[in-house]
Amino acid sequence: MASMPNILKRILLLICIDNSLSLAPIVIVPGIGGSQIEAKLNRDQSTYYWCYKQYPNWFTLWLSIEELFPIVEKCLAENIKTNYNDTTKTMENAKGVYTRVPDFGNTTAIEWLDPYIHFAGVYFFPFIDALTRTAGYVRGKSLRAAPYDFRYDPHNAGDYFENLHLLIEKTYYDNGNQSIMLISHSMGAPYSLYFLKRQTQEWKDKFIRAWITISGVFGGSVKAVLAYISGDSFGIPYFLDSPIKLREFQRSFSSLSFILPNSNFWNDNEVIVKTNDRSYTVKDYDTLFEDINYPIAQKILKLVPEVWSNEPPGVKIYCFYGNLVETPEVLYYKSGFAKDNYPNIYYGDGDGTVNLKSLEGCKLWQGKQKQQIIHRLFPMGEHNGILQNPHLIRSVIEALEQ
Ligand SMILES: *[C@@H]1O[C@H](CO)[C@@H](O)[C@H](O)[C@H]1NC(C)=O
Ligand SMILES: *[C@@H]1O[C@H](CO)[C@@H](O)[C@H](O)[C@H]1NC(C)=O
Ligand SMILES: *[C@@H]1O[C@H](CO)[C@@H](O)[C@H](O)[C@H]1NC(C)=O
Repeated sequence: MASMPNILKRILLLICIDNSLSLAPIVIVPGIGGSQIEAKLNRDQSTYYWCYKQYPNWFTLWLSIEELFPIVEKCLAENIKTNYNDTTKTMENAKGVYTRVPDFGNTTAIEWLDPYIHFAGVYFFPFIDALTRTAGYVRGKSLRAAPYDFRYDPHNAGDYFENLHLLIEKTYYDNGNQSIMLISHSMGAPYSLYFLKRQTQEWKDKFIRAWITISGVFGGSVKAVLAYISGDSFGIPYFLDSPIKLREFQRSFSSLSFILPNSNFWNDNEVIVKTNDRSYTVKDYDTLFEDINYPIAQKILKLVPEVWSNEPPGVKIYCFYGNLVETPEVLYYKSGFAKDNYPNIYYGDGDGTVNLKSLEGCKLWQGKQKQQIIHRLFPMGEHNGILQNPHLIRSVIEALEQ
């Protein structure tokens, strides 16, 4: 087979998967930064005179590449930022900003993040396009998505999980009572885990055929720490080259706390950040937030649930992820955390965004549940790039056929 030309392989692939009826319907839970968000404005004030204070029609807040240009990016930051409310101990939108995620249930909000400028904001399109063209899936019917406001952690996700529960049931009934394949990417994996742990075994046995995780951030990622200190695009969208611009709003998101490296995966003597004066481990987040002059994050971190545990999710799992891509492991801020200081980064193994040990989280449930756990590595499979990798798509289709 090794010498067979690629084109022949492709034709074989197409022939082998024409019986689309037996394929499980799909519900996708995307990752951080991976859903469009729309907003309306009714603000009393703005820090910048050039930003709209009133905007009565829904407009695209995320992702609007236009809004990332100099000057207007200040408006984006001010509107997309979230606040910690010390009275209610919850996260909320900036005052006067109303948001929604468009088209829940369909795939519109996760294919292209910028609905107007496609080339740069590509996300799930190649993956979804491949499934519709080669395996007969239909958007909005057998292939659905559960986009969400990725700025918030699961405790602050409003009625998202009730809606996801209903969407899974509806997808099951709309497709001739076939159990569904849950597919989660990146932060979608711990988000889905939170969900699965809150469903009864009976419900999962009936509605969930299996769970495919792709590039799952099971135990957090050092890149989330980088995002707090210096800003980081977190892999989405890759063309943004000025992380410090993102930092202003990104570090206000409780989802960023949700994906910090977690003490189930990093031990107390593993340094993740160092300066000439001291080192920080996963036990030192409170001090780190103090030292980067962003102490509010201490309170936000306390709101956020710890999702990963030894207790398995109780569904069959296909765990797919890449390795052999340089991934930040230790951040060295030689001269401290002054604004605009960017660290020397020591790299380790992972998918470029998530560290290998975190991606491997699903393996730790092996033998702890009766449902199978199948795991597969994709060498050089980059965190988001893996969604267009033919080997990954082939593996997903094989899983869907079972
Ligand atoms: C916090 O939430 C309460 C209750 O919803 C609200 O009345 C108050 O204005 C909020 N505080 C801030 C600072 O927004
Ligand atoms: C889902 O979106 C596609 C376009 O991306 C559209 O063609 C289809 O009609 C939508 N399906 C539903 C059920 O809304
Ligand atoms: C699906 O299940 C529902 C409720 O159990 C039943 O009413 C319906 O006839 C079933 N549909 C099919 C196509 O089997």
